[in-house]
Amino acid sequence: MVSVRFVQANGDERTIDGEAGLTLMEAAQNNGVPGIVADCGGNCSCGTCRVFVAAEWFGKVGGPNELELEMLEMHADRRDGERLSCQVTLSDELDGLTVSLPRSQF
Ligand code: FES
Repeated sequence: MVSVRFVQANGDERTIDGEAGLTLMEAAQNNGVPGIVADCGGNCSCGTCRVFVAAEWFGKVGGPNELELEMLEMHADRRDGERLSCQVTLSDELDGLTVSLPRSQF
């Protein structure tokens, strides 16, 4: 299992265990993490599953793909480490990952 800590815009935190191979969005939804709405079901077309990856994890998580970047550019509150959680696949390498959620998803 891959442990991931989600930090809400108000500072509330939840740490979940997700199965490697699932997307970060799927793991969040399976564990009832608030704020990961995922209206499009993971098709990279709604932008309601955004997270900000903690700086120390940028290298392991990597950057957005081209389609994802187009979705991210539609938001005003952009930050370094921004990803769509439906485009991040959990792996053992990401065990201990921390992400925060934008205020717009609170
Ligand atoms: S679930 Fe819609 S963009 Fe990620």
